[in-house]
Amino acid sequence: MSLQGAAGADELIFYVNGRKIIEKHADPEQMLLSYLRKRLHLTGTKYGCGGGGCGACMVMISTYEPASKKIRHYSANACLFPICSLYGVAVTTVEGVGSTKSRVHPVQERLAKCHGSQCGFCTPGMVMSIYTLLRNYPEPTSEQMTAALAGNLCRCTGYRPILDACKTFCKESVCCQSKASGKCCLDHEEDLFDKEEKISTRLFSPDEFQPLDPTQELIFPPELMRMAENQPKRTLFFHGERMTWISPVNLDELLDLKAAHPKAPLVVGNTSVGPQMKFGGMFHPIVISPARIPDLNVVKCTGDGLTLGAACSLSLVKDILRNAISKLPEEKTKIFYAVLKQLRTLGGEQIRNVASLGGNIVSRKSTSDLNPILAASNCMLNLASRGRKRQIPLSDIFADGVDNNTLMPEEILVSVHIPHSRKGEYISAFRQAPRRENALPIANAGMRVLFEEGTDKIKDLNIFYGGAASTTVCAKQTCWTLIGRHWNEQMLDEASRLILKEIALPGSACGGKVEYKNTLIVSFFYRFFLEVLQSLKTTDSCHYPGIPVEYGSVLQDFQTKMPQSIQIYQDVDQSQSPQDPVGRPIMHQSGIKHATGEAVYIDDLPSVDGELFLAVVTSSRAHAKIMSVDTSEALKGPGVFDIITADDVPATNEFHYSSDPEIIFARNKVICVGQIVCAVVADSDVHAKQAAAKVKIKYEVLEPVILTIEDAIKHNSFFEPKRKLEKGNVDQAFETVDGIFEGEVHIGGQEHFYMETQSVLAIPRGEDKEMDLFVSTQHPAFIQEMVAASLGVPANRIMCHVKRVGGAFGGKILKAGLLASVAAVAANKTNRAVRLILSRGDDMLITGGRHPFVGKYKVGFMNDGRIRAVDAKYYINGGCTPDESVLVAEVSLLKMDNAYKIPNLRCWAYACKTNLPSNTAFRGFGFPQSALVTETWITDIADKTGLSPEKIREINMYKEDEQTPFKQKLDPQNLVRCWNECMEKSAYHSRKTAVKEFNKQNYWKKKGIAIVPMKFPFGLGTRYLSQVASRELNIPMSYIHFRETSTTTVPNACASVGSAGTDVNGMAVKDACQTLMKRLQPIINKNPKGNWNDWIKEAFEQSVSLSATGYFRGYNEHMDWEKGEGQPFTYFLYGAACSEVEINCLTGDHKNLQTDIVMDIGCSINPAVDIGQIEGAFVQGIGLYTMEELKYSPEGVLYTRGPDQYKIPAVCDIPERFRVSLLSSSQNPYAIYASKGIGEAGLFLGCSVFFALRDAVTSVRNERGLKKTFAMNSPLTAEQIRAACADDFTKMVIGR
Ligand SMILES: Cc1cc2nc3c(=O)[nH]c(=O)nc-3n(C[C@H](O)[C@H](O)[C@H](O)COP(=O)(O)OP(=O)(O)OC[C@H]3O[C@@H](n4cnc5c(N)ncnc54)[C@H](O)[C@@H]3O)c2cc1C
Ligand code: FES
Ligand code: FES
Repeated sequence: MSLQGAAGADELIFYVNGRKIIEKHADPEQMLLSYLRKRLHLTGTKYGCGGGGCGACMVMISTYEPASKKIRHYSANACLFPICSLYGVAVTTVEGVGSTKSRVHPVQERLAKCHGSQCGFCTPGMVMSIYTLLRNYPEPTSEQMTAALAGNLCRCTGYRPILDACKTFCKESVCCQSKASGKCCLDHEEDLFDKEEKISTRLFSPDEFQPLDPTQELIFPPELMRMAENQPKRTLFFHGERMTWISPVNLDELLDLKAAHPKAPLVVGNTSVGPQMKFGGMFHPIVISPARIPDLNVVKCTGDGLTLGAACSLSLVKDILRNAISKLPEEKTKIFYAVLKQLRTLGGEQIRNVASLGGNIVSRKSTSDLNPILAASNCMLNLASRGRKRQIPLSDIFADGVDNNTLMPEEILVSVHIPHSRKGEYISAFRQAPRRENALPIANAGMRVLFEEGTDKIKDLNIFYGGAASTTVCAKQTCWTLIGRHWNEQMLDEASRLILKEIALPGSACGGKVEYKNTLIVSFFYRFFLEVLQSLKTTDSCHYPGIPVEYGSVLQDFQTKMPQSIQIYQDVDQSQSPQDPVGRPIMHQSGIKHATGEAVYIDDLPSVDGELFLAVVTSSRAHAKIMSVDTSEALKGPGVFDIITADDVPATNEFHYSSDPEIIFARNKVICVGQIVCAVVADSDVHAKQAAAKVKIKYEVLEPVILTIEDAIKHNSFFEPKRKLEKGNVDQAFETVDGIFEGEVHIGGQEHFYMETQSVLAIPRGEDKEMDLFVSTQHPAFIQEMVAASLGVPANRIMCHVKRVGGAFGGKILKAGLLASVAAVAANKTNRAVRLILSRGDDMLITGGRHPFVGKYKVGFMNDGRIRAVDAKYYINGGCTPDESVLVAEVSLLKMDNAYKIPNLRCWAYACKTNLPSNTAFRGFGFPQSALVTETWITDIADKTGLSPEKIREINMYKEDEQTPFKQKLDPQNLVRCWNECMEKSAYHSRKTAVKEFNKQNYWKKKGIAIVPMKFPFGLGTRYLSQVASRELNIPMSYIHFRETSTTTVPNACASVGSAGTDVNGMAVKDACQTLMKRLQPIINKNPKGNWNDWIKEAFEQSVSLSATGYFRGYNEHMDWEKGEGQPFTYFLYGAACSEVEINCLTGDHKNLQTDIVMDIGCSINPAVDIGQIEGAFVQGIGLYTMEELKYSPEGVLYTRGPDQYKIPAVCDIPERFRVSLLSSSQNPYAIYASKGIGEAGLFLGCSVFFALRDAVTSVRNERGLKKTFAMNSPLTAEQIRAACADDFTKMVIGR
């Protein structure tokens, strides 16, 4: 068959939310996400990454299978789902689930009422994952629920409130794991409270929830059923601008097509081809969709195994294997069991629902979790090409590397045969990934051994690895050599050496982590060795004694369990009016709109007539002269309107807020990879991006290229001023101390990973140079000022509107200003509306993040644990422009004491100027880094003195009225209370004993526990605004509506940064409401029995103005750096967190077992929001300190540009038991209603997990007699943990 036979394109028929869609011009390049958003204007489905990694774009797909008459519902990522795959299916989006106009669905209602949304950007995706699960299982298990959410990321909530909403649908009771101890945390809840206080643990009322009624759901469209049953199947063709999609209906036709177009890929789930085309620059003019061919969907149980069609989805494979395991004797299902184990953690459920078995195998990726185990199990592939069928062992397809030509270009995989296991055969699969779920593996393995009957003599052995080379590899020589050996320690030793010799990566291997991967390679084999030994024991315990008991626990992998949580806060006083919402856990004003997808973000705004899309062209060199920019090819691209450069900026292109400028467009030289050089505007985002890729820039590299803090120190490259803080006499103190040590901690940067990428819509108004800017920003006034300056117009011509922001965390201030200026300059030049929505990859590349940090210290201490002197130097990597780096360095200095009194202190802070993208504000603003350094040397003192870390913390903690090193007074009473309550509530001492006991009984698994205090100075820096207005005006919350923040209503507002949103805006709202009440009071006095409507009606009659603005200028803070004295903060927040973890010493993997947080936040205005902020920040802290790793090439190119490479915490990472208490009876005279701004502080407490991990590693090292003091840097990843747990395997790897 050829394309000529199909000149005309077919109509694509499918349903969306019960509505029939007939698309006459289906473009194979178009994904469902953009179709929904741009064509159908269903903007509830969000863009978060475009690569299947975040879940923001989740939809439900429903199909009908005429043979079984079954309807299948499954969740899928719309961003990778080609619309051409939709023929005959029904799509449900968040709008189809429920809406405020019709009926809000129970899933939407419960997510909102359980406070499961903060910025709300991830919420529609969450709704769709939960909704789809409930369509299949109306009463799911908690295990099904956590699995359903494994592919959904949320950067704000820390997942706990989302899971609370989920639990309300689950069948089993919401009891905690401590049941094993005979009591559930909910049973002994009472013990957790101070009896004096009126305490509450309820953040929502389940009795308000509507029941889930499955009969109310949208039915599968009968027309699609008729189509599937009655219409003869025929080949479908869809032709796009550049690509043709062919969907044949039988195998012969498919083989003809493949013979005619051998280079055309077969696209099933598009989870491999899709990302390659989107991010890898690959293009296919023809693609073939084999999904409808029966031979490729076959499921056959044969006498010796299972034959599964290559187009079967991985979810289907999982179900089939699970079913077979339940029916067949255990002996026959060991292979099925091992494959199933890999499938449980392969991708998220949404990926497995669409990704095909054949696609995973044939892609031959080194990261395939299936190929090593399928190859080790001797699976067979059934292949076909025109006129030819053959069967080959699966291992043949990567026998000589990824490009071997075992598979002919015209050949296709029809099905895979997975055999039954046999007696005397043992099979296992292993993997280690940067995150337990929804993460590609760093390394994996499949292993199989067959013994001679009744012996432990190896008859056959297969060992395959992934992650070690460009495709799956086999340790063939090793396996041959070991045949005939007995399964014992000698064999293990020889095998380990042989494997390393045969498989281990060379030091120069690309992708890094070489030592870690090599260690995993041998550790996996060791784990297999133990597993088999243990299994042999079950066959003949006299001959095979099994493994030592203390080794047993390593055979259990960590599992994700539904976390148990409890939140404790002080209830409002009984005398408070029931109408007064202050102090109550009120739902987010937009909660329901978030959950229904009705909440409008920038890219959801309807398009404006003549609107253009903008794509940026960025530098590919870190430091270079721009020799030429060739835009000729780009300008010829379809739909291209113009190219915008520095020459088009009417006024300011470089902003001199300090010595070095912030730059909109690079002009003559570039100073980092990712700097914006020019931008393309076109009629669609696709055309703009295609053209941007065609702009050719020639560079001449300039020296030096400074990337790291070490480079900056070497070249003396800093932003000025450098800052110093000094107290007491450090040099003298060092002379009198008992001991001195020096150390260094490195803390990696962190990507904001707000779920909504940077977004701007600039609309010129055509009159008086006015321009409306809709921007996702925390600081509209700043955007207004910057754009006005770049356009050279008075600021009052620029109106900046902010309806809502899909997460920011500090990253949407200066960077948003630069991007708004780019869009505004383009709008100004073209006189058209311009939309700029950064792709996730560009956002991560361009906008910088948290500053990487190096802390060098020298500490003097006494043997009783007292700190006497600290001499430290802090370096932060500011990147190529100043942004707020100097301020971040200052704050890191001012907060470095954390909770401790340091009598003699000298500390310097330097902001390094490098050729990385400029770093910027990020939740915590330098504190999470400098306080981690402090806590590290505190732990070092513990190591040196033999005292426990908590003892050192207690001894040195601020206790009475004290002064900070810069002479600001503080009253640490609540710090001590938080610490003591945290100790008590976490039962720290008894759990520490239990941890020690566990560690004695387990060799390869260890637990660790740590408790960390926090003093978080607040200062320098809308959620509760309705509550403030409600109280001040004495009216119900339902009367209050917030429209947007705009520079037209508040011309000179402060930024919503540094947790200050409520403090500053709340004060301003209070001010405005009080003005209104003053005006209304005479009317109220006259008619005291009237209601709000009567009074405002009367106000109208009397011409009393009912509009007022309020203003709060912020706090009076100052710091004199010359004297090293000042009052830079308004007040102090306190807290403490205790975390317990368990590590696997063989892989470095860990599990967060429990966290208890006690936080002093004054009188909470809304405990649900405050607790949500604490938990969200804490989980972001877990990310910073244990997971999130930015990787750069030696040339300064950021590799980690999406959720595939950069792992933020997911559901599997939150502690299994998670308890947060707000300190009761705490007042704050400085802020609104005695509250405290909480947004940032909780992040640092994530380091309790870091120190718990360190504690676990310490116990390993102590047991093995290793050096007591060792350096641990952040993030403390599995790689570092594995290296620190040194053993024979690490020695073997290093000694090679
Ligand atoms: C977010 C994300 C997370 C992931 N996580 C994991 C993970 O943890 N572990 C893991 O192993 N994988 C993971 N993957 C990879 C995923 O499993 C594979 O991409 C998937 O199995 C490929 O199947 P597909 O149907 O989507 O392939 P497609 O993209 O549709 O096709 C892939 C390739 O296979 C070829 N092909 C497909 N079927 C046949 C056939 N029958 N005959 C011949 N050639 C064929 C095609 O020509 C094409 O070249 C992840 C992918 C994503 C996007
Ligand atoms: S946008 Fe689709 S998964 Fe992220
Ligand atoms: S609420 Fe989940 S990303 Fe903001």
